[in-house]
Amino acid sequence: MIKIGASILSADFGNLKEEIKKAEEAGVDFFHVDVMDGHFVPNISMGIGIAKHVKKLTELPVDVHLMVENVDIFINEFEEMDYITFHIEAVKFPFRIINKIKSIGAKPIVALNPATPLDAIEYILDEVYAVLIMTVEPGFSGQKFIPIMTKKIRKLKSMIVENGYDTKIFVDGGINVETAPLAVKSGADVLIAASAIFGKDDVKTAVKELRDSALKALDINFLNKKSEKQSNLNKEE
Ligand code: DX5
Ligand code: ZN
Repeated sequence: MIKIGASILSADFGNLKEEIKKAEEAGVDFFHVDVMDGHFVPNISMGIGIAKHVKKLTELPVDVHLMVENVDIFINEFEEMDYITFHIEAVKFPFRIINKIKSIGAKPIVALNPATPLDAIEYILDEVYAVLIMTVEPGFSGQKFIPIMTKKIRKLKSMIVENGYDTKIFVDGGINVETAPLAVKSGADVLIAASAIFGKDDVKTAVKELRDSALKALDINFLNKKSEKQSNLNKEE
């Protein structure tokens, strides 16, 4: 089952309540709040107050994406959040951070910038709920999906499968009806999108089209595998 997270970075902040309601009615699975500090990324977005506000406005899970340098000092501020996403590039002691996130009852997710190799998370892969593959450089919504990230998603998927882990793969950045199929075919389980949801006039149609594009891609994958299997069987006969 593919899940969709609505990143509120492209929402109308003046009408957050209505924007959240629209996205809920459109069937998104959770909300994603991009927290930036102007150091880890060259932008400042929203902080603790907005994340808490979003949490109050919805019954759906809330994921805070910490694009900040000093992860450690902020974790306790987000204790009511469902997922806390931190960047591997920002932390020295990831096991310590993961344990701290778990201790406040949230699910830890580790994010990787596009150029960060998967080796960086090899030994924490089984400790986190999910890995978030950034498919753009973090900091802004509305950027273009970096195509070679499909290779990284495929590689991560094999690492997970080969080890028998049940870690999920999230993707974030430039996800839309053209790129969602590429991401899910490569192994992504969860799609996060801002401009492809809140940037559209009709949020309901936007979410439906995004989900359909992903499901269709998975079906095609499935059908291909099925016909491959069939032709192998025919060869054996
Ligand atoms: C980028 C953020 C993303 C962003 C995605 O730094 O982490 O969550 O909101 O925006 P789109 O979907 O427009 O690329
Ligand atoms: Zn994000």
